[in-house]
Amino acid sequence: MKDLIDISELTTSEIDQLIETSCDIMQNPAKYSEKCRGKKLATLFFEPSTRTRLSFEAAMYELGGAVLGFSAADSSSAAKGESVSDTVKTVSCYADIIAMRHPKEGAPRAAAMAASVPIINAGDGGHNHPTQTLADLCTIKKEKGRLDALTIGCCGDLKFGRTVHSLVEAMSRYENIRFIMISPEELRLPEFVKSNIAHHASHEIEETEDLQQVLPELDVLYMTRVQKERFFNEADYIRLKDSYILTPAKLTNAKADLAIMHPLPRVNEISVAVDNDPRACYFKQVLNGKFMRMALIMKLLEVE
Ligand code: NCD
Repeated sequence: MKDLIDISELTTSEIDQLIETSCDIMQNPAKYSEKCRGKKLATLFFEPSTRTRLSFEAAMYELGGAVLGFSAADSSSAAKGESVSDTVKTVSCYADIIAMRHPKEGAPRAAAMAASVPIINAGDGGHNHPTQTLADLCTIKKEKGRLDALTIGCCGDLKFGRTVHSLVEAMSRYENIRFIMISPEELRLPEFVKSNIAHHASHEIEETEDLQQVLPELDVLYMTRVQKERFFNEADYIRLKDSYILTPAKLTNAKADLAIMHPLPRVNEISVAVDNDPRACYFKQVLNGKFMRMALIMKLLEVE
């Protein structure tokens, strides 16, 4: 495997191995501090990011490697009209591995065809976000002790939310998964995600608009932001943006061991008062994401 563009490119045993490695890194960081000495990671971010870009950079530094890159399209030659292919052919001359975020669906795939070094998809438009999913799986495994036999509620913008698309693809391969997809009618899970997982026999998908009604059934609640930047008109965004706001009062009927997750950034969809609830896991997801990216960088660079 050269690149990671889509979570389906990883086998279940590769995912399990990455989770195991990330736990080992967390417990024994010194063992890994020189693993990528002399190697360089380039972060090519054509779209805004805080966690994904900085966690890739922190991951490479903690492996003893170095980092270069840009954090906005307008500070790169993309602003002059350079193609993604030419950009990554160029960066392949400077770096050993590239993490790339782009507003166009499929851009990291095109980049992987042109690049001579591994490409990691750090989010492409409203399509996929495989490394967020690695952070999410690691978090679910740690919090619930398993990745099978779970009822997972995904709530918010399921249409444009790329983290949900990759999460559903990854979780559907585990046994006995029940997804409850909670969204306004206009923001339902796209057909392409459903058809990509249809061959995994052992999952169920239900759809509802009512978070309160299904909340008591959930083992995991994955909240998401309404993806303002993907809307065609502002009026629709304003109408839909506050469809769901999780508050301590709404959580009174939820399971005592519910894991409340969110890929972040949050806008309004989780009240800050929920942060003190021991079931809130979203900042743990951030930390797990760094260790998972360390494990992934080592895997793609074939570091022992
Ligand atoms: C997500 C993304 O970029 O898709 N953020 C992240 O990478 N953690 C979610 C979002 O922007 O809403």
